[in-house]
Amino acid sequence: MPRRTEFSDNRAWLRSLGFAAIEPPYRELPDPAVPPHDSFLRWLEDAVDAGIPEPHVGVLATTGADGLPSARVLMLRDIDASGWSVSGPDFSVKGAHIAANPQAALTFYWREHGRQVRIAGSVIDGGIEAASRDFHDRSTIAQAVAFGSKQSAELADESEYFAAVADAQNLIEHQPQLLSAHWRVWRIEPMTVEFWQADPGRRHLRRRFTRAEPGWSASDLWP
Ligand SMILES: Cc1cc2nc3c(=O)[nH]c(=O)nc-3n(C[C@H](O)[C@H](O)[C@H](O)COP(=O)(O)O)c2cc1C
Repeated sequence: MPRRTEFSDNRAWLRSLGFAAIEPPYRELPDPAVPPHDSFLRWLEDAVDAGIPEPHVGVLATTGADGLPSARVLMLRDIDASGWSVSGPDFSVKGAHIAANPQAALTFYWREHGRQVRIAGSVIDGGIEAASRDFHDRSTIAQAVAFGSKQSAELADESEYFAAVADAQNLIEHQPQLLSAHWRVWRIEPMTVEFWQADPGRRHLRRRFTRAEPGWSASDLWP
């Protein structure tokens, strides 16, 4: 790969990186008659079958009360006809954003397949049962991090973090049913779901599903 020091400026360096050639194994878009969450699951299965690492990791974008957007990588925790679910603590930036403006976009990219899916819609709090199930599905250390962490607050001293996680781990070992009161599962109920399929000749394919109670309407977009 070209090294940055070989270029006079960042723009030239970035231009030199270009796109890596890919030969996507698929050339088709989801069937307009199939609900988009089923088509998403099919693409996710394709990614899993191909051994693409972390195929269930996407980028969640939210907007705060001040209008400033923020996007971060998250793990998909559940999906069904009602929506895509992610989880985290309510005091995080995403938690504050969702409380102020319960709308979000969630994007997945499987490079090896030249595929992107973009979901946008309303965010619904999944409730205590979903939060508890999600929290207790996690490993003990992940629960301890979730329980002890002040995710997104300023960290003055790393030892505070280690002490909080160690305390939480100790607590959880003695009370395995403990649940962080701040843990949330957020379900993104889609208004639109867009599928993008790369084409080596740049005739990329895009199909957007828009909610049209009942069901969905599908339209193709210029790439
Ligand atoms: C692969 C990967 C998976 C992640 N999964 C989660 C997750 O499921 N929940 C979460 O709260 N943060 C997760 N994070 C951390 C987030 O990217 C982010 O740093 C954190 O949620 C704080 O974001 P916020 O301050 O915007 O709320 C993950 C990060 C990576 C790189």
